[in-house]
Order: sequence, then C-alpha cells, then structure tokens
Amino acid sequence: MTNIGSYEERLKNFSWSIAEKELGYSDAKTKNIGWYCSDRICDMGKAEKTALIWEGHDGTEKRYSFNDLRLASNTIGKFLKNLGLKNEDRVCLFMDKIPELYFSFLGVLKIGAIVQPLFSAFGDESLHVRLENAETSVIITQRKHVSKVRRILEKSPYLKHIVIVDYDGKHPLREREIAFNLEETVPVEEFEIFPTKAESPSVLHYTSGTTGQPKGVKHVHYSLISQYLTTKWVLDLIEDSLLGQEEDIYWCTADPGWVTGTSYGIIGPWSMGITQCVLDKGFSAENWYQFIEKYNITVWYSAPTAIRSLMKAGDEIVRKFNLSSLRHLASVGEPLNAEAVIWSEKIYGLPFLDTYWQTETGSIMITNFPGMPIRPGSMGKPFPGIVGTVVDTKTYEPITTPGTIGLIAFKPGWPAMMRSYWNNEETYQSKFKNGWYIPGDRARLDDEGYFWFVGRDDDIINTAGHLVSPFEVESALLEAEQVAESAVVSKPDEINMEVVKAFVTLKPGFEPTPDNELTIMNFIRKKLSPLAMPQEIEFVKTLPKTRSGKIMRRLLHAREWGEDIGDTSTLEDEE
Ligand code: WTA
Repeated sequence: MTNIGSYEERLKNFSWSIAEKELGYSDAKTKNIGWYCSDRICDMGKAEKTALIWEGHDGTEKRYSFNDLRLASNTIGKFLKNLGLKNEDRVCLFMDKIPELYFSFLGVLKIGAIVQPLFSAFGDESLHVRLENAETSVIITQRKHVSKVRRILEKSPYLKHIVIVDYDGKHPLREREIAFNLEETVPVEEFEIFPTKAESPSVLHYTSGTTGQPKGVKHVHYSLISQYLTTKWVLDLIEDSLLGQEEDIYWCTADPGWVTGTSYGIIGPWSMGITQCVLDKGFSAENWYQFIEKYNITVWYSAPTAIRSLMKAGDEIVRKFNLSSLRHLASVGEPLNAEAVIWSEKIYGLPFLDTYWQTETGSIMITNFPGMPIRPGSMGKPFPGIVGTVVDTKTYEPITTPGTIGLIAFKPGWPAMMRSYWNNEETYQSKFKNGWYIPGDRARLDDEGYFWFVGRDDDIINTAGHLVSPFEVESALLEAEQVAESAVVSKPDEINMEVVKAFVTLKPGFEPTPDNELTIMNFIRKKLSPLAMPQEIEFVKTLPKTRSGKIMRRLLHAREWGEDIGDTSTLEDEE
C-alpha cells in the first residue's frame, strides 16, 4: 500500500484540486507557505508534534515542535518587519544548516517578502552577483560567514542590513550589521501574516546559466500545491499513524541553498506535518548510517553522488548499523546509475527511486513511483498532471519512435513551475518552444513510456548534483593574475560523475608549475565555491578556437570523455 495507489488510476482522475482540497486551500485565510508549514499544522492539533530534529557537527541535538516552528518564524518575521522590510523585498539566507535557517525561511515568507537562499560555501563573487542581481536588502547569516559579506559591502549598495544570528558580543558590530539571537528574544505569539495570494512571489533560487550570469528562478506561494502532492505520492510520507505504522521520520540530505532543500527539505514535509531530521555535519558513511539508526529514519531523500560514495564505503559498514527503520528511498539531482539501484536493493532491501526535476520546475516531474515496477537506470514516468515527452531537437515535435534521443519537454502550467527569471524575461521566454517548456536535458523514451536520461543539452557541468557554469568559472579565472585565457569543461569522475577541469594559457612570466596550479585552484575556491574549483588545471600553449575566435569547449570536452570530436572544419588551428 502506498499513497499514490495505482498510477494508471491517478492519471485518469487527476486534478491539482486534489491537493487544494486536502490543504483546505480555497477556504484558507491565507495562501502563505509560512502559515501552511507551521500555524495550520498547529491548528490541526499537532502543535506539540516534533517538526525538526537537528544535530550539529559536534553532536548537539535540538528538537523543535510545530508550535516552536510557528513561534520562531513569527519572531523572525516581526524582527524583519521592524527593520522596515516590506512584502516582495528580497531577504537572503546565507547560513549552514542551522535551525535559524529553517525558521527564517518561514519567517521571511510570513511577511510576504521573497526568500533568497544561498549555499553558505559560496565565495565572495558568487555571493555578490546573486545579491546584486536580486537587489537584496537584507542578508541573514552567521559569524563564520560574515567576512565574505564584509568584503563585498562597498559594491553592494542595496544591502541595508546584515543580520547575524549567533553574535557573541566579542567584536564590535560593523557598518550595517545587527545582531539577532532567537533564543534571547521573547517569542511572538500573535503575528499578522501577510495576506499573500497564490501568485505572490515566494522563493528566489539562483541557478547557473550557460552563457550569462546565474539566473534567479522566481517561484510563487502556489508552488505548495505540487510540492505537497509530490511529497505525499512520490516520497510517500504518511501524515498520521495511518496503515497501523509508526509515524514517518524523514531525512532530506539536501542543503536549502538548493531547491531540493527547500521544496522537499522544508515546504513538502512540513506542509504535511511530518517530523524531519537535519544533520549539519560533513558526509561520511559512518555519520550517515549512525544518523539513520539513531533517529529511526523511515524515508530518506538523497542524491546519486552520496549513494555512489556509500557504495564505495562498502557493504561491511552497513552491517554495523541497524537500518531497519528505513522503508522508502528516493534520489535526485544527477543520473542514478542502474548499479546504484540494484546495490541499494541488495544492501538496504530497498531500491532508490529516481526523481527528475529542476530548480525551474519547483517540484518532481518524472519519477519511479512507489509500487510501480522500476526499470533500473530509468527515471520513470511523469507525475500525474504533468504532460511530459521527448521532442525533436530541431522541430520540437514529439518523437514517436521509442529509443530516439531528443529533448525532454513539458506542457507548461503545473503549480510549482517558475513564473520568471528575475529581471530576465528574454532568457525565460527562450525556454519555451512550440508550446513546450524545454528544461535543457536530453533523454529517450522506451516502448512503455519510461524516460531514460542521456545528458544535458548545454555546457553546464553537473558535479555531484551541483550545476556549475563554465562561463562563471572562466570569467573568474580571467581575474587570476597568472591566467591569459581559459576554457572550462567537465571530466569524468567515479564518485561525482563529473568534475570541473580548466585549460589555461598563462600570461608571460608565469610558468606551468604545480604551485601555480594550486594557487589558481584556491583562487577559484575562495571566489566562487569549492564545487566550482577546477579539480585539474591543464596548462596549454593555445586553446582551440573557431575562425571567428570563439573557444571550442566542445573539442576539449570530447577529448576528456574519449568521444568523437565531430566537425572541426571551422577550427582556426587544430591541436
Ligand atoms: C539534472 C535539482 C538525471 C538535470 C533538483 C536537471 C538529473 C538538473 C536528475 C537540475 C535525474 C536532476 N537524473 N539528471 N534524476 N535530476 N538532474 O536545478 O540536468 O539543481 O536539468 O535541480 O539536474 O538541477 P537543479
């Protein structure tokens, strides 16, 4: 028995109003996600139920009920309002996975402002371009990250306040900085939540673009409808002690700096009133298994790179832990190898079910459903209410011959679909072709309508599930004093699927030494992030270019992957 029941039946009778009805959407006094994830759950009699079990890197454990969630988000909401924030102002969350991050997310939404979560490992430049693009007025951060904000302060005129949630009073606060300590603030019992409508903006997630700067993907409060229903039917979370089983304890391993960490690490589970766990600690197989055992995790949503790392850690270590609480596993972000599915079935007694979606889609689009036969290596089928297919790369007409590679395409109109790219209507419009939304991935359909992922249709690098733009890395490389020119491509990697590799020509006076390689790598790590840092720099005398002077990434990419180089007739000089 699963939440979705029969896939075919669901397809036949599907309407998004199923979710609206279950959420009491039309009668609700507000359409605010902040209210749905805390106040409403309390109103339903679950105020004392645990919402969050948090464990820090030093083993500290904290538990919060749905009422705590309600109060904490009210308190942060009030604090922000007192700073003069208005609805639709942008508030950036720049924190590790600490409880304040989760509470702030709901607090920002409660005042009708737009929440802009950013991965806390981002360096100055990555942070700056995103804050500038969104004209963000407040950033909420921790002491350990504040130096990055200070370094970009001068060139960030829009940023009015820097809120530090763990200020210890030891050093004086600097310009625009303000301390806010949740534990020392009187909890706000009554708070007037901003009356957001379904189409009011909610979350602004930044995602890498192929050619330009990162794009801000704008979502609205109505996204809740798809996020709620996909959480229920795909992640198969169960609200109460239905089916005679214990209540679910859910673990989404994603960081809320990325869309999985908000759609399914905040909104989905909490709008269902589910208890979830957060581990704010680096990855190791031991840490993770211990965490599952300690908190009796039942549903686990993770990513292929982590699964491959667990495979590498071996079968022996699994046997040291009692993982019998697990009942459902799902994965997202990169291609999930058939071997990983087969291995997980063997070792955990449960296969990882693949889920395919994007920052732009806001919710799961294609998936292997609980209870449906899995074809290991395939992503599965579209979620009910999603019309998805594979279209020809030139005509954008659906491909009718099974097995033919084309572009994944969806009919626009599901609730969690992005509403625009922030201040970038042109790029937004370019994503639609022949009435389809084109996510930019290649796939093929088999004879039973299962989707098989083939690869991205652009130069974006997907390293360990994180999208990195070669353009961003190349631009940053040009600022390194040693670099004359560069070309950035991916190269294969056993665990991360692919990693960043840079080809670099040096300025006169610099030698291709290991020292210079390290210096440049570190420069990128600090400026952008550890993910964007090239794992290898190959110094070359010249870069392959077209006759018009454009660097041919395609050629370098093909070489790294041992693929056919293709047509090189437009090349200026071949290597
Ligand atoms: C890739 C993450 C293969 C794809 C939720 C997509 C996948 C991009 C899968 C979105 C999957 C996501 N199999 N590839 N199951 N899921 N991708 O925006 O290229 O960070 O377009 O959203 O990741 O990444 P994003």
